Amino acid sequence: MHADLSLQQSPPFSVPARFLVSAPLFGLIAALVMLWHGPEMISNRWTPELLAVTHFLTLGFLAMSMLGAMMQLLPVLMGMVIPRPVFFSRLIHIPLFLGSAILGTAWLMNITQLFIIAMFLLGFSFTVFIIIATERLLRSKNRHATRGMMLLALLALFITAGMGIYLAIAYSSPEFPLARHLSNLHLSWGLVAWAGLLIMAVAYQVIPMFQITDEYPAIHQRWMGWLLFIAMLSLSLAYSLQLEILHTLSTILLAGCLLTFALTTFWVLQTRRRQIPDLTMKFWQLAMASLSALTLTWATATLLDWKLPDFLIGVLMIHGFAITTINGMMYKIIPFIIWLHLSTRNKNLRDQGERSSQVKVPHMRKIIPETAGLWQFRFHLVSLLLLILASLWPQWFFYSATLVFAVAQATLLFNLLNAVHFYKTKITELSNQQT
Ligand code: HEM
Repeated sequence: MHADLSLQQSPPFSVPARFLVSAPLFGLIAALVMLWHGPEMISNRWTPELLAVTHFLTLGFLAMSMLGAMMQLLPVLMGMVIPRPVFFSRLIHIPLFLGSAILGTAWLMNITQLFIIAMFLLGFSFTVFIIIATERLLRSKNRHATRGMMLLALLALFITAGMGIYLAIAYSSPEFPLARHLSNLHLSWGLVAWAGLLIMAVAYQVIPMFQITDEYPAIHQRWMGWLLFIAMLSLSLAYSLQLEILHTLSTILLAGCLLTFALTTFWVLQTRRRQIPDLTMKFWQLAMASLSALTLTWATATLLDWKLPDFLIGVLMIHGFAITTINGMMYKIIPFIIWLHLSTRNKNLRDQGERSSQVKVPHMRKIIPETAGLWQFRFHLVSLLLLILASLWPQWFFYSATLVFAVAQATLLFNLLNAVHFYKTKITELSNQQT
């Protein structure tokens, strides 16, 4: 069975909601910073503005929503109870929120002390999360491939954060040399291993469950995570020992894993049994198209010895693949949790013989209206296309790209806040009827 849905284990709504709503706020901040600083900020990969925007997106949007989704999915998909969920979610969310904001501000305002504060906050948040999630996963009796991949993803997060903090020490203290040779490894462990592995692990369960499709092939689920992780280890070895041939081989293996995942996902989506159009499906297709485009352009450029713009790779990986996937999943996860909580409350009332106190729970598709989501998808798609053009011709496309990106993130924030408002209204209705 693809998912051992343990619905009774679902944590309170506020646990995932605080993380998921914070994500587009950081997306919007990133877009506004880009709009403010203009195309000069992408003149090379090390401008402080670009590093700030990168971390507003990778920490503020990606890590934020991925931790929030895990707080929800670990209990529901893996049947694991997180003790005192509200307390722990605050303990992780507050330092992650502040740490991401402060790290970006440190680069934007060039204040060395802020790097130190950000390192402590982020280090604390990730350590608490990694310890709790790893301990729970190791004790879980669930043996779905997702469990092993989530453990590998957590290890990758630990390596990414460790390298990030090590790199940031150089920004906080001028005597400490900047280990720039670690930057490529840091970003690969973050984007390919942590984000990539977690997205795959979740896709194996949520695509068949929500899109009503066939399962991913068993061999894919069994080996893909390990192959990708081994490729990352050998890439790290190649960097440390300066082995050119190992570097090329590991890069080919990594690109092969990502392309195989993208093509298999296209195939699995093709087996969808429902005919009605679905918003999350569009996001999955766009994310997989970006991932395929990224791996193919990367492979071609490596073979033909072309120099690709760094910004283009970042756009395809961060915006095109990772943010698109998570944005699409938000449209399933948030309505699902709301529907779940309201239905459970109604069921409890029925069991207590208080049928008249029940509230009307709409279909999941109505909790965030389809048209609102569709408009947000259109803005997101146009912003991706414009950002790709901006990486080639920044003077012409940078401002329009970042403006549309800001609109896309603001619309996502609006849609999520509306869903939260809807939930709160229904819960108040329930409480009023019971008193
Ligand atoms: C504890 C958290 C983190 C800290 C303190 C941190 C710190 C840093 C620092 C100091 C750099 C600049 C490196 C240099 O100047 O050579 C950097 C670059 C980068 N980091 Fe992080 N980072 C963290 C987490 C992450 C995560 C989770 C991701 C991805 C999911 C990520 C992705 C990147 C990327 C893409 C770059 C850009 C490098 C480039 O443009 O070439 N970081 N990080």
